[in-house]
Amino acid sequence: MVSPADLAVPVVAAPMAGGPSTPALVAAVTDAGGLGFLAAGNQTVDAVRDQIAVTRTLTSGAFGANLFVPELREDDASHREIKRVEAYRASLAAWADEFGVELPLPHPDDDAWDAKLDLLEADPVAVVSFTFGIPSSKVVHRLQRVGTSVWASVTSVADAVVAASSGVDALVVQGTQAGGHRATSHCIDMPNEASTIALVAAVRWVVDLPVIAAGGVMDSDGLHDAIMAGATAVQCGTAFLLTPEAGTSAVVRAALVDDVFTETVVTRSFTGRLARGLANRWTTEFPDAPAFYPAVHQVTSPLRAAAAEAGDAQRVHLWAGTGWRQARAEPAADVVRFLAGP
Ligand SMILES: Cc1cc2nc3c(=O)[nH]c(=O)nc-3n(C[C@H](O)[C@H](O)[C@H](O)COP(=O)(O)O)c2cc1C
Repeated sequence: MVSPADLAVPVVAAPMAGGPSTPALVAAVTDAGGLGFLAAGNQTVDAVRDQIAVTRTLTSGAFGANLFVPELREDDASHREIKRVEAYRASLAAWADEFGVELPLPHPDDDAWDAKLDLLEADPVAVVSFTFGIPSSKVVHRLQRVGTSVWASVTSVADAVVAASSGVDALVVQGTQAGGHRATSHCIDMPNEASTIALVAAVRWVVDLPVIAAGGVMDSDGLHDAIMAGATAVQCGTAFLLTPEAGTSAVVRAALVDDVFTETVVTRSFTGRLARGLANRWTTEFPDAPAFYPAVHQVTSPLRAAAAEAGDAQRVHLWAGTGWRQARAEPAADVVRFLAGP
């Protein structure tokens, strides 16, 4: 089993769904002594199977895959929330017309959870990490039995305790600076606003598991501080977004180096789940999307895709952490070396 303590360089490339994580990025980070991660969330099982196969042709080293834990809500509140999603969809109609796209109605979707677990059991990778919820001990043991190390992403001490009790091998502790979605267990949860360092220290105080610190680590000082706070390794996403190996879209690459963007916000605007990205016209004009994932994600997807195609960064999700200005447009192996420091 791969432990974060085994890494030659204590740097994990964050799984980044929606394009940035590619087999090339995974292999480059692994071969540089870190740990590359495939993002298996929001992809078909076939696409995940293919990405694992391609990654194996690029590296013989260890790498991970990340899954979204589905939250299927059937309660009364969810029926009210669906009505709000439909209203949100209606409020986006003018933009949809402008781009000539149809916005779909939301539908239940568990992101092919069972099929992805079957795949990762039959064709194991070194590490499987989970976000958007804590996997049950049954799921954890199923993967551990085939030699996989299981990591859970958490944003609070309370969730760290739950994850520890389900038997995971390590915790990815996500602080407020992190880019992308908050790893809260429930869509409606408000994330802890603690910094990565503060949260790592708090979790280490209570839970005796290796911790991988995620959020705002952009250089070797950040890595050093995280290790001093008790982390065994760091997980970096934003630091890799501009590397040539990343599948970051052209519109996001351009936005990350455009002075027009001056701050990040944590918003439900694009997917219904809180996520940190660059503030733009969408987050300003539609700040109050309902707390319902993946319903809002489904409704807004065609609009975001059309805007990306048109190069309109004001109407695309621009996931990035607070350290985005320090992202380096250099090969991923150089970024790993830069993060590791002298
Ligand atoms: C573009 C992007 C996509 C992300 N997608 C995922 C994902 O699919 N699964 C996941 O567990 N975390 C995802 N994250 C969050 C990262 O795991 C990690 O918490 C975050 O990148 C750390 O903060 P940093 O971006 O400041 O390095 C994503 C982050 C970014 C920036």
